[in-house]
Amino acid sequence: MVDEIPNVAPGIAGRARHRGRGGSDAARRLWTGAPPGPDPFALPRGPLGRAAGWALALTGRGHNAELIAALRVPPGAAVLEVGHGPGVLLGMLAAVPGTSVTGVDPSPEMVRMARRRNAAAVRAGRLRVAEGRADATGLPAASVDLVVTVNTVAMWPRLDPGMAEFHRVLRPGGRAVVAWHRLPPRFALAPAELAEVERALAARFGAAGRTVLRRSVVFTAVR
Ligand SMILES: C[S@@+](CC[C@H](N)C(=O)[O-])C[C@H]1O[C@@H](n2cnc3c(N)ncnc32)[C@H](O)[C@@H]1O
Repeated sequence: MVDEIPNVAPGIAGRARHRGRGGSDAARRLWTGAPPGPDPFALPRGPLGRAAGWALALTGRGHNAELIAALRVPPGAAVLEVGHGPGVLLGMLAAVPGTSVTGVDPSPEMVRMARRRNAAAVRAGRLRVAEGRADATGLPAASVDLVVTVNTVAMWPRLDPGMAEFHRVLRPGGRAVVAWHRLPPRFALAPAELAEVERALAARFGAAGRTVLRRSVVFTAVR
Protein backbone atom coordinates (compact mmCIF):
# COMPACT_ATOMS: atom_id res chain seq x y z
CA MET A 1 0.00 0.00 0.00
CA VAL A 2 1.23 3.49 -0.81
CA ASP A 3 0.92 6.19 1.88
CA GLU A 4 -0.69 9.46 0.86
CA ILE A 5 1.53 12.17 2.31
CA PRO A 6 0.36 15.63 1.28
CA ASN A 7 3.45 17.61 2.24
CA VAL A 8 3.84 19.89 -0.71
CA ALA A 9 2.11 23.01 -1.79
CA PRO A 10 -1.25 22.27 -3.39
CA GLY A 11 -0.55 25.08 -5.87
CA ILE A 12 2.69 23.44 -6.87
CA ALA A 13 0.89 20.13 -7.11
CA GLY A 14 -1.80 21.72 -9.21
CA ARG A 15 0.79 23.03 -11.58
CA ALA A 16 2.37 19.60 -11.69
CA ARG A 17 -0.82 18.01 -12.90
CA HIS A 18 -1.97 20.49 -15.49
CA ARG A 19 -2.89 18.56 -18.57
CA GLY A 20 -3.69 19.81 -22.00
CA ARG A 21 -7.02 19.00 -23.62
CA GLY A 22 -5.39 16.21 -25.56
CA GLY A 23 -4.35 14.60 -22.25
CA SER A 24 -0.63 15.36 -22.60
CA ASP A 25 1.28 17.01 -19.75
CA ALA A 26 1.37 20.76 -20.22
CA ALA A 27 4.71 22.49 -19.65
CA ARG A 28 5.08 23.60 -16.03
CA ARG A 29 5.86 27.17 -15.28
CA LEU A 30 8.58 26.62 -12.71
CA TRP A 31 11.80 28.60 -12.34
CA THR A 32 10.48 31.63 -14.19
CA GLY A 33 12.07 34.05 -11.72
CA ALA A 34 8.82 34.57 -9.80
CA PRO A 35 8.75 33.90 -6.03
CA PRO A 36 6.09 31.53 -4.62
CA GLY A 37 2.57 32.97 -4.67
CA PRO A 38 0.10 32.97 -1.77
CA ASP A 39 0.14 29.18 -1.34
CA PRO A 40 0.69 28.59 2.42
CA PHE A 41 2.68 25.40 1.79
CA ALA A 42 5.06 27.02 -0.70
CA LEU A 43 5.93 29.98 1.53
CA PRO A 44 4.09 29.66 4.85
CA ARG A 45 2.89 33.05 6.13
CA GLY A 46 0.46 34.14 8.85
CA PRO A 47 -2.11 31.87 10.53
CA LEU A 48 -2.66 29.80 7.36
CA GLY A 49 1.08 29.36 7.02
CA ARG A 50 1.31 28.14 10.62
CA ALA A 51 -1.48 25.64 9.94
CA ALA A 52 0.43 24.50 6.84
CA GLY A 53 3.52 24.07 9.02
CA TRP A 54 1.66 21.80 11.43
CA ALA A 55 0.30 19.78 8.50
CA LEU A 56 3.80 19.47 7.01
CA ALA A 57 5.20 18.28 10.34
CA LEU A 58 2.46 15.69 10.80
CA THR A 59 2.47 14.31 7.28
CA GLY A 60 6.17 14.57 6.41
CA ARG A 61 7.58 12.26 9.09
CA GLY A 62 7.74 9.23 6.78
CA HIS A 63 9.60 11.18 4.09
CA ASN A 64 12.04 12.60 6.60
CA ALA A 65 12.68 9.23 8.25
CA GLU A 66 13.45 7.70 4.85
CA LEU A 67 15.74 10.59 3.98
CA ILE A 68 17.71 10.67 7.23
CA ALA A 69 18.48 6.96 6.73
CA ALA A 70 19.52 7.54 3.11
CA LEU A 71 21.65 10.60 3.93
CA ARG A 72 24.13 8.68 6.14
CA VAL A 73 25.19 11.91 7.85
CA PRO A 74 28.77 11.54 9.06
CA PRO A 75 29.08 12.05 12.83
CA GLY A 76 30.55 15.47 13.53
CA ALA A 77 29.50 16.96 10.18
CA ALA A 78 28.56 20.60 9.72
CA VAL A 79 25.13 20.44 8.06
CA LEU A 80 22.90 23.06 6.46
CA GLU A 81 19.22 22.42 5.73
CA VAL A 82 17.64 24.94 3.36
CA GLY A 83 13.85 25.43 3.48
CA HIS A 84 13.40 23.35 6.64
CA GLY A 85 9.72 24.22 7.10
CA PRO A 86 8.51 23.12 10.56
CA GLY A 87 11.91 21.58 11.35
CA VAL A 88 11.30 17.84 11.62
CA LEU A 89 14.38 16.89 9.59
CA LEU A 90 16.43 19.53 11.42
CA GLY A 91 15.75 17.65 14.66
CA MET A 92 16.85 14.37 13.08
CA LEU A 93 20.04 15.99 11.73
CA ALA A 94 20.85 17.53 15.11
CA ALA A 95 20.39 14.11 16.75
CA VAL A 96 23.32 12.63 14.77
CA PRO A 97 26.23 12.56 17.22
CA GLY A 98 28.50 15.59 17.06
CA THR A 99 26.77 17.37 14.20
CA SER A 100 26.55 21.12 14.05
CA VAL A 101 23.37 22.02 12.17
CA THR A 102 22.08 25.24 10.64
CA GLY A 103 18.60 25.66 9.19
CA VAL A 104 17.47 28.52 6.98
CA ASP A 105 14.00 29.25 5.63
CA PRO A 106 12.53 32.44 4.14
CA SER A 107 9.37 32.09 6.27
CA PRO A 108 9.63 33.74 9.72
CA GLU A 109 6.77 31.48 10.85
CA MET A 110 8.74 28.35 9.89
CA VAL A 111 11.88 29.70 11.58
CA ARG A 112 9.91 30.20 14.83
CA MET A 113 8.22 26.81 14.54
CA ALA A 114 11.52 25.00 13.87
CA ARG A 115 13.17 26.74 16.84
CA ARG A 116 10.33 25.76 19.16
CA ARG A 117 10.21 22.19 17.90
CA ASN A 118 13.96 21.79 18.46
CA ALA A 119 14.38 24.03 21.50
CA ALA A 120 16.68 21.61 23.35
CA ALA A 121 19.10 21.32 20.42
CA VAL A 122 19.06 25.11 19.98
CA ARG A 123 19.77 25.62 23.70
CA ALA A 124 22.58 23.07 23.54
CA GLY A 125 24.18 24.98 20.65
CA ARG A 126 23.88 22.05 18.23
CA LEU A 127 21.31 23.83 16.04
CA ARG A 128 20.98 27.38 14.71
CA VAL A 129 17.90 28.49 12.77
CA ALA A 130 17.65 31.73 10.80
CA GLU A 131 15.87 33.35 7.90
CA GLY A 132 17.49 32.64 4.54
CA ARG A 133 16.86 31.34 1.05
CA ALA A 134 18.38 28.77 -1.26
CA ASP A 135 20.23 31.52 -3.12
CA ALA A 136 21.17 33.49 0.03
CA THR A 137 21.85 31.28 3.05
CA GLY A 138 23.99 33.79 4.93
CA LEU A 139 26.64 31.14 5.67
CA PRO A 140 30.36 31.69 5.04
CA ALA A 141 31.96 30.09 1.99
CA ALA A 142 33.32 26.54 2.39
CA SER A 143 31.77 26.14 5.86
CA VAL A 144 29.60 22.99 5.65
CA ASP A 145 30.07 19.30 4.82
CA LEU A 146 26.48 18.64 3.76
CA VAL A 147 23.72 20.88 2.43
CA VAL A 148 20.30 19.35 2.06
CA THR A 149 16.95 20.64 0.87
CA VAL A 150 13.68 18.73 0.82
CA ASN A 151 10.57 19.67 -1.15
CA THR A 152 11.70 23.22 -1.81
CA VAL A 153 13.34 23.19 -5.24
CA ALA A 154 10.07 23.79 -7.12
CA MET A 155 9.55 26.95 -5.05
CA TRP A 156 12.89 28.49 -5.98
CA PRO A 157 12.45 31.37 -8.42
CA ARG A 158 15.42 30.04 -10.41
CA LEU A 159 17.56 26.93 -10.14
CA ASP A 160 21.10 28.09 -10.79
CA PRO A 161 21.41 30.75 -8.05
CA GLY A 162 20.47 28.11 -5.46
CA MET A 163 22.87 25.53 -6.87
CA ALA A 164 25.63 28.18 -6.94
CA GLU A 165 24.98 29.01 -3.28
CA PHE A 166 25.12 25.31 -2.31
CA HIS A 167 28.44 25.03 -4.14
CA ARG A 168 29.75 28.17 -2.40
CA VAL A 169 28.95 27.07 1.17
CA LEU A 170 30.28 23.52 0.77
CA ARG A 171 33.82 22.54 1.69
CA PRO A 172 35.75 20.64 -0.98
CA GLY A 173 34.47 17.06 -0.80
CA GLY A 174 31.17 18.22 0.75
CA ARG A 175 27.84 16.95 -0.51
CA ALA A 176 24.75 18.71 -1.86
CA VAL A 177 21.45 16.82 -1.63
CA VAL A 178 18.26 18.01 -3.31
CA ALA A 179 15.22 15.84 -2.59
CA TRP A 180 11.67 16.02 -3.92
CA HIS A 181 8.83 13.69 -2.98
CA ARG A 182 7.42 11.05 -5.31
CA LEU A 183 4.37 10.40 -3.15
CA PRO A 184 1.56 11.07 -3.43
CA PRO A 185 2.00 10.90 -7.21
CA ARG A 186 0.02 14.09 -7.81
CA PHE A 187 2.79 16.04 -6.05
CA ALA A 188 5.64 14.50 -8.02
CA LEU A 189 7.66 16.57 -10.47
CA ALA A 190 7.37 15.68 -14.15
CA PRO A 191 10.29 13.76 -15.68
CA ALA A 192 11.42 16.84 -17.63
CA GLU A 193 11.43 18.91 -14.43
CA LEU A 194 13.47 16.30 -12.57
CA ALA A 195 15.90 16.30 -15.48
CA GLU A 196 16.16 20.09 -15.22
CA VAL A 197 17.01 19.89 -11.50
CA GLU A 198 19.66 17.26 -12.21
CA ARG A 199 21.09 19.34 -15.06
CA ALA A 200 21.27 22.49 -12.92
CA LEU A 201 23.06 20.61 -10.13
CA ALA A 202 25.48 18.97 -12.56
CA ALA A 203 26.14 22.31 -14.28
CA ARG A 204 27.43 23.78 -10.98
CA PHE A 205 29.18 20.71 -9.57
CA GLY A 206 30.44 19.01 -12.73
CA ALA A 207 28.35 15.87 -12.13
CA ALA A 208 25.22 14.83 -10.27
CA GLY A 209 23.64 11.50 -9.35
CA ARG A 210 20.04 10.47 -8.84
CA THR A 211 18.66 7.93 -6.35
CA VAL A 212 15.03 6.94 -6.39
CA LEU A 213 13.73 6.05 -2.93
CA ARG A 214 10.21 4.84 -2.18
CA ARG A 215 8.95 8.28 -1.16
CA SER A 216 11.48 10.68 -2.70
CA VAL A 217 13.82 11.23 -5.57
CA VAL A 218 17.21 12.42 -4.37
CA PHE A 219 19.84 14.29 -6.39
CA THR A 220 23.38 14.35 -5.05
CA ALA A 221 26.55 16.16 -6.06
CA VAL A 222 29.98 16.48 -4.49
CA ARG A 223 31.98 19.70 -4.48
C1 LIG B 1 6.56 22.39 1.07
S1 LIG B 1 7.50 23.22 2.30
C2 LIG B 1 8.70 21.95 2.71
C3 LIG B 1 9.23 22.13 4.10
C4 LIG B 1 10.13 20.99 4.59
N1 LIG B 1 11.38 20.94 3.88
C5 LIG B 1 9.41 19.68 4.49
O1 LIG B 1 9.76 18.85 3.63
O2 LIG B 1 8.47 19.49 5.27
C6 LIG B 1 8.45 24.37 1.36
C7 LIG B 1 9.41 25.19 2.19
O3 LIG B 1 10.28 25.88 1.28
C8 LIG B 1 10.49 27.16 1.77
N2 LIG B 1 10.91 28.02 0.65
C9 LIG B 1 10.14 28.73 -0.22
N3 LIG B 1 10.92 29.40 -1.08
C10 LIG B 1 12.22 29.08 -0.77
C11 LIG B 1 13.49 29.48 -1.30
N4 LIG B 1 13.60 30.31 -2.32
N5 LIG B 1 14.59 28.97 -0.71
C12 LIG B 1 14.49 28.12 0.33
N6 LIG B 1 13.33 27.72 0.87
C13 LIG B 1 12.20 28.19 0.32
C14 LIG B 1 9.17 27.57 2.41
O4 LIG B 1 9.27 28.62 3.32
C15 LIG B 1 8.75 26.25 3.05
O5 LIG B 1 9.20 26.14 4.38
